[in-house]
Amino acid sequence: MDETLISTINKLQDALAPLGGGSQSPVDLPQITVVGSQSSGKSSVLENIVGRDFLPRGTGIVTRRPLVLQLVNRRAAKKSGNELLNISTTEADGSKSENNADEWGEFLHLPGKKFYNFDEIRQEIVRETDAKTGTNLGISAVPINLRIYSPHVLTLTLVDLPGLTKVPVGDQPKDIEKQIRDMLMKFISKPNAIILSVNAANTDLANSDGLKLAREVDPEGSRTIGVLTKVDLMDQGTDVIDILAGRVIPLRFGYVPVINRGQKDIERKKTIRDALEDEKNYFENHPSYGSKSHFCGTPYLAKKLNTILLHHIRATLPDIKMRIEASLKKYVQELASLGPEIADSPSSVILNIITDFSKDFNGILDGETRELTS
Ligand code: GDP
Ligand code: NA
Ligand code: MG
Repeated sequence: MDETLISTINKLQDALAPLGGGSQSPVDLPQITVVGSQSSGKSSVLENIVGRDFLPRGTGIVTRRPLVLQLVNRRAAKKSGNELLNISTTEADGSKSENNADEWGEFLHLPGKKFYNFDEIRQEIVRETDAKTGTNLGISAVPINLRIYSPHVLTLTLVDLPGLTKVPVGDQPKDIEKQIRDMLMKFISKPNAIILSVNAANTDLANSDGLKLAREVDPEGSRTIGVLTKVDLMDQGTDVIDILAGRVIPLRFGYVPVINRGQKDIERKKTIRDALEDEKNYFENHPSYGSKSHFCGTPYLAKKLNTILLHHIRATLPDIKMRIEASLKKYVQELASLGPEIADSPSSVILNIITDFSKDFNGILDGETRELTS
């Protein structure tokens, strides 16, 4: 049931993607939106949660379109015999590639194509980003929708957004800072957005641009969860205990400290698996964190996000259902007023989508009600 809930939201998210960042979408979908300054470690956090390298990286503004990342736990999906085969191959340099037949990505804009090679996923994100934004490092609010199926992920939907910057680079528009800010605001100001605020632990939390933005739309900190990256880069003898204890800027969902791979680790091709192992050892053996290490690190963060998202979807379902029914009515009326030759009009396409999901949601709501009352 839990998995069904999130995958129904996923389908709706796909359907509404062409409406551009969801701002004009008839429903405000529950989703986890990642915000933070450029280079605070947002992409690294996402890759660690997925357990695979697949995001474009580099210094500067790499993420220039929203990436709606839907993680689907594979155990919940049906397997065909073919997909159980391991297709890992031997690379030219003799190393085994990590490609597994039970782990793949699919883009909404390339229906039916399965990417088993995660390097190709990265290339496709870059290609598709440039396709919509040009190559002058501009940004676009039209999301790229990527779904990753894997037995190693928790079902979860995350939206990666461009990082906050101050200075335009190259021939970027002069108002790039404002453009990025406006785009982030569009996503996080929606009441159903959960804000994942990523902050480097070796910078002052009070000056965090991401957190400042989050506080503007969520002053009570009731739908913001903090992530503290780069804990390994903090000055010796300092730690994030005061932040974790809520003594600095309290958030209802609290903060989770994590350690991602540094630039050197990436150059040395350290695997995410090794990075996660090192992260675990770091927290377990650290004098400040040892006694609470089960509340630290990426696996705890992923579990926490999965739980928060599920609770959130449950709480918002009745409202979503109402809105879907309202837009259903609106589109039916619009179509009726247009006459007979509009079967392929946008309204009619959206109507079909909404009709389908209205059915799905009713099914889910019935199930939920039964679950709650039984
Ligand atoms: P983004 O711009 O917010 O997406 O940040 P990235 O994930 O691309 O990370 C920016 C840089 O910081 C990269 O060189 C990462 O390797 C490095 N980095 C991210 N998180 C950590 C961390 O926890 N520890 C260390 N040492 N480096 C990190
Ligand atoms: Na970056
Ligand atoms: Mg990034």
